[in-house]
Amino acid sequence: MAKFAKRIAYMQSTADVIRYLFEAMTDPDIISFGGGAPAKEALPVELVHEIANEVLTRDQRGVQALQYGNPIGIPDLRQAVIDQLLTPKGVKADLKNVMIVAGGMESMNLISQLYLEPGDVVLVESPTFVQSIQIFKMFEAQCIACETDDNGFVIEDLEAKIKQYHPKMIYVIPTFQNPSGRTTSLERRKAIAELGSQYDIVVLEDDPYCEMRYSGEVLPPIKYFDETGHTIFANSLSKIFAPGTRLGYIYADEPIIRKLYEVKTATNSHTNVLTQILCAEFFKRGLYEPHLKMIRDIHRERRDVMMECIKTMFPNETKFIYPDGGLFTWVELPEHVDTTLMLENAKQHKVAYMPGKEFFVEGQPIKNNCMRISFGGVAPDRIEAGMKRLADVVRLYL
Ligand SMILES: Cc1ncc(COP(=O)(O)O)c(C=O)c1O
Repeated sequence: MAKFAKRIAYMQSTADVIRYLFEAMTDPDIISFGGGAPAKEALPVELVHEIANEVLTRDQRGVQALQYGNPIGIPDLRQAVIDQLLTPKGVKADLKNVMIVAGGMESMNLISQLYLEPGDVVLVESPTFVQSIQIFKMFEAQCIACETDDNGFVIEDLEAKIKQYHPKMIYVIPTFQNPSGRTTSLERRKAIAELGSQYDIVVLEDDPYCEMRYSGEVLPPIKYFDETGHTIFANSLSKIFAPGTRLGYIYADEPIIRKLYEVKTATNSHTNVLTQILCAEFFKRGLYEPHLKMIRDIHRERRDVMMECIKTMFPNETKFIYPDGGLFTWVELPEHVDTTLMLENAKQHKVAYMPGKEFFVEGQPIKNNCMRISFGGVAPDRIEAGMKRLADVVRLYL
């Protein structure tokens, strides 16, 4: 068999854990807090059914849906993104600034294609989203982890690493971060945008959870503070519409979008037109706002149940993040616990989580005693049952 490219080795260990999590998701006996899926009750199945029936038989949209499309995306979805997602954040965008992509993950790929040369440095939060690290490594970039605390990147450390490594890019998940559930504070958002401008670095702001807020104060994106075009705002429609439709968007200055157009063309021509039309109609018909309220209510309840379970069932020395939104919390167990090894015990107890180690950059300080647990895809009564199993696993391990 011909040899695989070297870059494939970068993905091996993560791919194994992800494979296990997908298997856990489909085994009805396992209660899985491992994945990052929203509640199945939050998927707009009925609405999409109705929209699809009407739209495809009207105004030639059936033909449009099945024909090749424009790499930048269909205008009515881009306009809906501007009107209903970007304008409320206080940013000024028009159609030239917005590209539709095939899910949030594609943004990371396209932006990496546009900017990263082998050996370039990407500064990332520690911990950070495992699949983005994979993508940056695929482009043979070097990921350097920076210190974080409850308010996001520690700015002094970020600036010190900028001076030391001269990075090409800063990758940041500012709101209800994956995996930690933490949110970058207002001051730090401003500081990150300014550092991008001052040192001529791309700030890749990946913000797929920002609309999923259940408590606390709404914050503007880092892009809001960007005066030089260094920040690129990447977002996903997976959590607020449907992950299976593979939709997301990039909001950036026009010259960047023009270049991304070329990259997108060479990658997959364009995003699925059928799902773009369905999603555009969802917004145009005023269905998004009530849907968002419904999905926030569902996930808020799940978050609250999970927080209560951690407080009442886990050992006293457990530390955890109280997330104001999103799908995850981050649990820190006593230092001698290795959550990767503990996963074997969890399998026997029919419960799954994501070991924290996966979210740290290899070769840099790693915490083995953490885990990401997701409350999104599990109904409240199952959260209680699963957290009881997990608390038992932790106690036995201790
Ligand atoms: C931080 C972060 N970025 C991007 C994505 C990818 O989103 P999508 O499902 O739209 O590809 C996710 C999904 O879990 C995520 O957590």
